Amino acid sequence: MSTYYIETFGCQMNKYDSELVATILDKHGYQPARSIDESDLILINTCSVRDHAEQRVKNKIDDLYRFKKRKKGLVVGILGCMAQRMGQSLIDEKPLVDFVLGPDSYRNLPELLVQLNNGGIDKTEFENPYDDDETYADIYPTRFGEINAWVAIMRGCNNFCSYCIVPYLRGRERSRSAQNIIHEVKELVTDGYQEVTLLGQNVNSYHDGKTDFADLIRRVADVDGVKRVRFATSHPKDMSLKLIKAIGEHPNICNFIHLPIQSGSNVILKAMNRKYTREHYLELIEHIRTHVPNPALQTDIIVGFPGETDVEFQETVDLFNEVKFDGAFIFKYSPRSGTAAFKLKETVSEAEKTRRLQELNRIQKKITVEKNLKLVGTVQEILVEGRSKKRKKQQWMGRTDSNKIVVFNNTAKIKKGELICVKINEAEGQTLFGELLTSPAEL
Ligand code: SAH
Ligand code: SF4
Ligand code: F3S
Repeated sequence: MSTYYIETFGCQMNKYDSELVATILDKHGYQPARSIDESDLILINTCSVRDHAEQRVKNKIDDLYRFKKRKKGLVVGILGCMAQRMGQSLIDEKPLVDFVLGPDSYRNLPELLVQLNNGGIDKTEFENPYDDDETYADIYPTRFGEINAWVAIMRGCNNFCSYCIVPYLRGRERSRSAQNIIHEVKELVTDGYQEVTLLGQNVNSYHDGKTDFADLIRRVADVDGVKRVRFATSHPKDMSLKLIKAIGEHPNICNFIHLPIQSGSNVILKAMNRKYTREHYLELIEHIRTHVPNPALQTDIIVGFPGETDVEFQETVDLFNEVKFDGAFIFKYSPRSGTAAFKLKETVSEAEKTRRLQELNRIQKKITVEKNLKLVGTVQEILVEGRSKKRKKQQWMGRTDSNKIVVFNNTAKIKKGELICVKINEAEGQTLFGELLTSPAEL
């Protein structure tokens, strides 16, 4: 019996894909290894979104030489976006890699492993083609987590933001049928999952021919037993008022919205091919704040896009001070070969990108701390996820609806997956500390 070990880089979609791959292998008689040391097959599921992400994967691959030396017959496979992007050239660069397999080809894995075992792969058969029809809708993945289950409702992307490599690696957008998704969510509830996170590169453009995303998320939230529904990622150009109202009207649809703006400048947004303006984005924030109770907003920013001047960067700074996000992921622009922006001359030095990144991070940190301090003294409902990595033994953690982490002393033997109320006593950086409210009288 062969055993496998999967390590995953990149986004939530990749994590979901690793669950898919594990399930495909399980069905073909493989078993998960207890550790990387003991496995016969090591799979690395990779990300290409920025050069830094690829460098991390390459370091990881180099790190595998010691296992390969120790274990005769160990097979190393590279999955995911980098496998799709680099194909054979990755094997040429890192000869310890036995095969590469892109995101639409995971069904081929068992057959490929058989061929490898028999002495060699027929390369023409595993050329990593796109398959714009592949949604893996018939596979119910064994989830790695215990509380939250990711559900990919669609795959691929049609947006071609000018900096982004994803559409070239994951092919065209395709949605699973709503009926098929609802069926899976019901199964997840039966299997004990409390929370589902609906995934897509741009969930707002989900459409199965009959059902749009606003209708789908309502149907998911209405499934009996679903305690929380999350979703990612939302593209501002496709976020409808209908969706915002659905989020507001369903208490179990989380009020946490990840809405990447990328830049506060209309000139840069246009060059990025984002297809919305700063004004449109601010209007969306208005709608969200009107229709969703206490929403938490998170965004992504790219600093140092070609042509971004000080004035344009300042527009992003001003937007941060105006919107006051709950959190932000800030990235330095990384040119990706094959994208439209790759042809543009880089105008912002590495040092200036770093300075801009640090400035935004500083501003955001201050806002995050201010917002968290405001929660001290309030009562929050949290979904308990397990022991806290942070502090002492009895300390457990959970998440608020708004995705904030709360650490509490588990004096009442609360179990994973329970929804409980805590009173927030302290805020430290990103983390809140709360006290368990056990009797209803305390609420
Ligand atoms: N589909 C999602 C996720 C895309 S990748 C979305 O549209 O939001 C996640 C983030 O990586 C993007 O939001 C963007 O901020 C960042 N990113 C993508 N390409 C990049 C590049 N070439 N350089 C720097 N950051 C990039
Ligand atoms: Fe990339 Fe834009 Fe698609 Fe997101 S929406 S994956 S940023 S092309
Ligand atoms: Fe990375 Fe591919 Fe996700 S490039 S961000 S793993 S879609």
